[in-house]
Amino acid sequence: MKETLASNFEKIYSQKPEVFAQAPGRIEFIGNHTDYNGGYTMGAAIDRVVMVALAKRTDTLLCFASAKSGEIVKIDLKDIKKQPREYNWVNYPLGVFKFLLEAGMKADTGFNMLDMSNLPAGSGLSSSAAIELSTAFALCKLYGFECDLKTKVRIGRKCENLFVGMPCGILDQGVSGFGKKDALVFIDCKSEEFSNAPLPQECKFWLFNSTKKHALVDGMYEARHNECMEAAKILSEGGEDRLLREFSIADLEAKKDKMSANAYKRAKHIIEENRRVLEAKKALEADDIKTVGKLMVASHESSRDLFENSCPELDFLVAEAVKNPHVYGARLSGGGFGGAVLALTDKDFCETDAQKIAEAYQNKFGLKPAVFACSAGDGAKNI
Ligand code: GLA
Repeated sequence: MKETLASNFEKIYSQKPEVFAQAPGRIEFIGNHTDYNGGYTMGAAIDRVVMVALAKRTDTLLCFASAKSGEIVKIDLKDIKKQPREYNWVNYPLGVFKFLLEAGMKADTGFNMLDMSNLPAGSGLSSSAAIELSTAFALCKLYGFECDLKTKVRIGRKCENLFVGMPCGILDQGVSGFGKKDALVFIDCKSEEFSNAPLPQECKFWLFNSTKKHALVDGMYEARHNECMEAAKILSEGGEDRLLREFSIADLEAKKDKMSANAYKRAKHIIEENRRVLEAKKALEADDIKTVGKLMVASHESSRDLFENSCPELDFLVAEAVKNPHVYGARLSGGGFGGAVLALTDKDFCETDAQKIAEAYQNKFGLKPAVFACSAGDGAKNI
């Protein structure tokens, strides 16, 4: 992949790339929408990546080439602003550049950039976080800027929140940054501490992409975010503002009548989901994979019934997957409203098993799900 990227870069820019970096996509293992509520979540970096190549220019232009259309978007580094919808793909690397400058990176001249990916797009594997992290690594190397991994991860999230306009938490960037082969990434989103949790060797991840389009930036995600904030505000009344992470079910029940039915349901999901993440971590440490599987299914049911970010396609895939005796658990993974279902399986679950689930899905919805197996891979790095 690196060679192809290098030769495409040379064809487009008549110049050799100077630096390369890569960052993985991620799965959300358990902890749905807990991140921006200051809670707990666990994910895994997968063995599929976005790769970025960069070289300095002598003028002040920032050039972004699209591998898809061959088009080059040029922006002067003294005039950085959010690009319109048709060039939204540029906003991810552009926002990272902007916030690296704000963090102290010095850049007198611009750059040429090209990326390439083997991540299936639009399946909820967070290709955007992978672009942000790989860009951050590549830019720091190109301009000789020292900054630690946590800062790069935070800059990725800042780019989403303040530049792209997506009010996400730190899950995607944290996992893409702190991923480790054969391990999960556990995140305490309040203290922004990242650690690795063991993943039993005999387990595999299978992803079933519903191919139902999810539209994170387009409202539904934001609506859920706002309902959580509404609930947190009501629970905080009489004291300082705190996020849902700080409250118990007893706190919630005591104020149930003060909030909308939706705010109550969203908050209940978040409070219970935080507990499930901690229980899953404990179960993983005790090598109790059956309990982990049960918690995954409970997580899905809560997303479906309380957070209401599932859809019939995802519910069907989960129900079909858990019928298979080699599946420990399954759940929607990521923002929801379409996207992918993650199944945690034993090592004997095979392509034939996966195809059975895919066929049942196709018969019911007339959509062909994209199915693939992956394992936990390493986080972002220069290559
Ligand atoms: C998306 C967001 C994450 C997280 C998940 C849901 O992937 O980018 O920050 O909120 O949804 O858990």
